[in-house]
Amino acid sequence: MKAKFIIVEGLDRAGKSSQCELLVKELSKSGPVELLKFPDRTTAVGKMIDAYLQSKSDLNDQAIHLLFSANRWEAVEDIKSKLNSGVTLVVDRFSYSGAAFSAAKGLDLGWCKHPDVGLPEPDKVIFLDVSEEVAMQRGGYGNERYEKLEFQRKVRSIFQQLREPNWAWINADESVENVHQRIVQALGV
Ligand code: TYD
Ligand code: MG
Repeated sequence: MKAKFIIVEGLDRAGKSSQCELLVKELSKSGPVELLKFPDRTTAVGKMIDAYLQSKSDLNDQAIHLLFSANRWEAVEDIKSKLNSGVTLVVDRFSYSGAAFSAAKGLDLGWCKHPDVGLPEPDKVIFLDVSEEVAMQRGGYGNERYEKLEFQRKVRSIFQQLREPNWAWINADESVENVHQRIVQALGV
């Protein structure tokens, strides 16, 4: 089976991390698979992003946008070599989060997409759609920048603009197990 590049997107509290882990477990039954997560806060660029998200540093909207993109570009060789050697990748956020979160601040959507042009294209995009009510029940949002109801609403509306017909748009309000089954069905595995 050819290695696949699978991107999982969604708002904060949508359950992306748990679903990515379950999906990796499921896919590993049929071949090598690894999980990647963006932002990758472990790199030098990632540390700058981490400080920004925790409001320990300030950057203008354009500069932080380009850092998020750079954080994906610095992983591109690793991504390509893994895919070429037959490792399927499940990716917790990628370019769509990059565009949606920055455009939600008012930056031009086309400008936001531009720095990511040339990064690997996904074989499948899974969008986990969580309602405000359920996101709140799950403990609400944390203390990081962007984790606010009004802003998350804007981000969701940009994701709707980015949505393409081949995306799997999954209601993530349901139980972990049900959402997992939907994802597996959408991937046809
Ligand atoms: P998140 O996946 O929520 O990280 P964690 O699981 O460690 O909390 O990502 C942190 C925030 O960064 C989240 O609010 C979305 C935002 N983000 C961007 O603004 N641009 C990007 O390119 C990416 C990947 C994430
Ligand atoms: Mg988060």
